[in-house]
Amino acid sequence: MTEKRRLLTGDRPTGKLHLGHYVGSLANRVRLQDAYRCYFLIADLHMLTTKPTRDDVEKIGANAHSMVLDYLAAGIDPRKSAIYLQSEVHEVFEMNLFFEMLVTVPRLSRLPSLKDMARAASLEEMPFGLLGYPVLQAADILLPRAHLVPVGKDNVAHVEITREIARRFNNLYDEVFPIPDVLVSETPTLVGTDGQAKMSKSLNNAIFLSDDEKTVRKKVFSMYTDPNRIRADIPGRVDGNPVFIYHDVFNPNKAEVADLKARYRAGKVGDVEVKEKLAIAINNFLDPLRERRAYYESQSGIVEEVIYDGTMHTREVAQETLLAMRKAMGLTGVWNHIRRKSEKRRQKLAKAQIED
Ligand code: TRP
Repeated sequence: MTEKRRLLTGDRPTGKLHLGHYVGSLANRVRLQDAYRCYFLIADLHMLTTKPTRDDVEKIGANAHSMVLDYLAAGIDPRKSAIYLQSEVHEVFEMNLFFEMLVTVPRLSRLPSLKDMARAASLEEMPFGLLGYPVLQAADILLPRAHLVPVGKDNVAHVEITREIARRFNNLYDEVFPIPDVLVSETPTLVGTDGQAKMSKSLNNAIFLSDDEKTVRKKVFSMYTDPNRIRADIPGRVDGNPVFIYHDVFNPNKAEVADLKARYRAGKVGDVEVKEKLAIAINNFLDPLRERRAYYESQSGIVEEVIYDGTMHTREVAQETLLAMRKAMGLTGVWNHIRRKSEKRRQKLAKAQIED
């Protein structure tokens, strides 16, 4: 049997995940975890690039816990995939430094994503570490010598930097790395319950994977729809209407959705019925996640065990990669020479002492 190709992706630990995360990335990961050997990192070092305070660090544990619980509830299987804590795989620090020599400051400065992140964090000037965000990301990806990197649109340019760094390393030294392919999620970004372009915790327009049935109902019933439709007998707009966008994504009963749309356009259905059916659809969709969550929640310490085991396994893989890098670069040879010569001298001196 040939060895599986490897996949790496991950998230900064910001806490619980929502339907937008599921549609945009988790579904993909669950789907790919049989075909690939998967590595999912909790990118706490990347979080430090904009949030380096003690307070921020203190939140890593709880945020990682709820995020990984969401991974597991979504169907990521820790027997197939490694979930690991980035800051505990120290090899990544070392790889990061080697890679810093293979990319230029202007190349990194041109990335709009980094400026956006600095602005979002209200940083007036670019921290050195934030400029290096894509280099650290390259170290993450190349650490298990990944072949595939599923990311959102905003991270595609970072994977391109990774490909450049991998090529440069292979050219300068030796073929250590596969050139990883990017896989961009094809599903469009899920709108928020308020109709804003993006579902997001900070915008307060999210339905979380951990929301219970009642909360989901409440959120669905307060959803933004067609603002011009003040009565049920007024024809409504279906296109771009968040309620119907969600129906398209989460309601598997396509005939029901088509019927609701037709009646909505004709002014022959009330918002209540449309939302009632949507709440049912989303709750049905979340039920299997709730079942898996209940199982993991009943096993105290299992989330931590998953992260621990995943981190230990990733360390082993990382050590292999780092050794291959050092050999390719010739650093192993430099050190071996120093070690052999100093050992020889020590032996010679010890022998001379005995003979005295
Ligand atoms: N940059 C990703 C984010 O936006 C997190 C991340 C860090 C990542 N390292 C990675 C994603 C490696 C894919 C591969 O949160």
